Amino acid sequence: MTTDNEKAVLSVALDEEGSAGHRIEVMLTEAQIQTRVKMLGEAITRDYPNFAEPLLLVGVLKGAALFLADLVRCIDRPVEYDFVAISSYGAATHTSGEVRILKDLDASVADKHVLIVEDILDTGLTLRFSYLLESLRARQAKSVGVCVLLDKPARRRVEVKVDYRGFEIEDKFVVGYGMDYHEQYRQLRFIGEVVPIKPDEPSAEWAAMD
Ligand code: IMP
Ligand code: MG
Repeated sequence: MTTDNEKAVLSVALDEEGSAGHRIEVMLTEAQIQTRVKMLGEAITRDYPNFAEPLLLVGVLKGAALFLADLVRCIDRPVEYDFVAISSYGAATHTSGEVRILKDLDASVADKHVLIVEDILDTGLTLRFSYLLESLRARQAKSVGVCVLLDKPARRRVEVKVDYRGFEIEDKFVVGYGMDYHEQYRQLRFIGEVVPIKPDEPSAEWAAMD
């Protein structure tokens, strides 16, 4: 079900002729996402049983913000969270592996279990070349794990060890639940695939999503 609010959001991308050049097709519903996030939270709760050992979730801005917000509320043990921002200068920079940490953590990670929370693992270059994992280890984190909501293994260029994975998906460009297309669609409660509309197709039919 697409709500009226979501229809309004989806219509933002329409141009003057009433065509967005793409449409959004539901890939994972709100219910599917919530069920899976709850399972991930339960697994994390089980895997860090010693409440005396601090657990810090580190969300990668901006895409992982909504996932982290839901995940943290499914963890039944003491937990802290923080965010980092990692630069990405588009495709060219990604291929050259030039990524930097733009916003670092506010507090020390020493002797804390750290879990990096990412929206989607694609090529793997962001996590690999930001040296985020290495820098957390160098700063004496007790352990460093990776939790991704979506994994696109077909696109991987460098190996990244994933400890918690929400869904494995095909090589499709997705939006919603924090993920964007030109900064739009982050607030959708579902995850949808961006499907280009060919010139001979009828213009965007958001109503067809119901
Ligand atoms: P990687 O360095 O290729 O693994 O890139 C991962 C980052 O690229 C994710 O955290 C997202 O910010 C972005 N990204 C990759 N695929 C998608 C997608 O399908 N939709 C939206 N953002 C994506
Ligand atoms: Mg991201």
